[in-house]
Amino acid sequence: MISTGIDDISLYTSSFYLDMHTLAEKRNADYSKYTDGIGIERISIPSPDEDIITLAANAALPVVQRCDKTKIGTLLFATESGVDQSKSAAVFVHRLLDLPSTCRTVELKQACYSSTAAVQAACALVARNPQKTVLVITADVAHYPLESPGEATQGCGAVAMLITENPRILEIHPESGCCSADCWDFWRPNYSNYPLYDGKFSMINYVKTCKAAWKELSEIRGISFDQIDRFCYHLPFSTMGLKAHLKLAREAGSQKSAAELENQLEPIIQYCKVIGNCYSASLYFALCSLLDNAPERLENKLVALFAYGSGCSGEFYTGTFQPGYKKCIRTETNKKLIRARKEIDFDTYLKFHHAADPIGENAGDCTTPETTEGAFRYCGIKDHCRIYEPCSKNAQ
Ligand code: CAA
Repeated sequence: MISTGIDDISLYTSSFYLDMHTLAEKRNADYSKYTDGIGIERISIPSPDEDIITLAANAALPVVQRCDKTKIGTLLFATESGVDQSKSAAVFVHRLLDLPSTCRTVELKQACYSSTAAVQAACALVARNPQKTVLVITADVAHYPLESPGEATQGCGAVAMLITENPRILEIHPESGCCSADCWDFWRPNYSNYPLYDGKFSMINYVKTCKAAWKELSEIRGISFDQIDRFCYHLPFSTMGLKAHLKLAREAGSQKSAAELENQLEPIIQYCKVIGNCYSASLYFALCSLLDNAPERLENKLVALFAYGSGCSGEFYTGTFQPGYKKCIRTETNKKLIRARKEIDFDTYLKFHHAADPIGENAGDCTTPETTEGAFRYCGIKDHCRIYEPCSKNAQ
């Protein structure tokens, strides 16, 4: 079997963030509840001219600029926050990135899990025809009602990955452990701007699904928990990953202490702490965070990745970091991008929050003010069509 996996990876988030000090003060909450209880210090908030399409196009631009784009045979766009019920988000991005007209384009949905379905499908497509590559983009805006328990776990961002034969960053192994079950822990009806959710149940179900998926993977691969060098988890907030890791370790008979287990996750939570939840992109932000923040060199190290999408689907799979991976990643660019975001005050947060409501007062024709610092912007709606353009003021 040929080797397939991640050959290039690039992330992007909004140009703006809300600091948790600001939210804590307005919500009369302890700052330490946000930082220590859920493990979030800042959340990226999209401006009115940023959404999953602009986030995705910005994340994918450096990947497309670095590769032979005539070889991209498929664009898979994974998201929970789609902008149209029929037209796929992939088609918008296909135009913005000027991809070949011969490229297959489609959007995938299963809450936060769909990015991993896309990565697995991409590996299978490349195995079938290694002459073609697959561009996987995962982008989401986590948008909760004001003053709700989920408000502190908002965020937004996108990760773009080029899946190829003989990948230079991460070889993905063909074995997986999967777990699906029909349940109602988090969902978003067509008529609602916001998700409905049972927070406590969703956390219990996350851990249950994680254990079941690990059991299948460890049996198929004949591998133990302590043989894995690093773990990456879907991170709606960083303490969710830590909780699952500690519980899974005990169930799987790990000999590691709680401190060692927490230390094992330290590099993966760095971006979640300052960006927040990116739904389907969260797991791949955790992977970028590991690549950029691991204190050791990861060459030939084994990583296990757990994807969870409410509703629910979960999957555990493994990969091996490739020799020379460091030359292909974008550590300085990523850190600079995150550092360069501008802090917004509470009134601006409220304005941005209401602008992101897709149903209701924003359903007709509208235009958005030019606010983003990104290379692409959402200009508004004309005759019921969403308009996206390169952002002239930010052209490189
Ligand atoms: N200092 C330190 N810690 C504090 C504190 C303080 N002053 N006050 C509270 N805490 C701790 C609490 O003890 C708690 O920790 P434990 O879970 O270890 O007990 C933690 O902070 C959170 O406190 P609460 O449980 O009181 O918080 P909450 O009621 O406001 O809700 C939440 C937290 C359930 C995660 C809520 O944010 C939520 O419902 N989020 C949306 C659903 C979600 O993200 N679910 C995750 C799994 S589903 C999924 O992963 C898919 C997805 O992306 C949505």
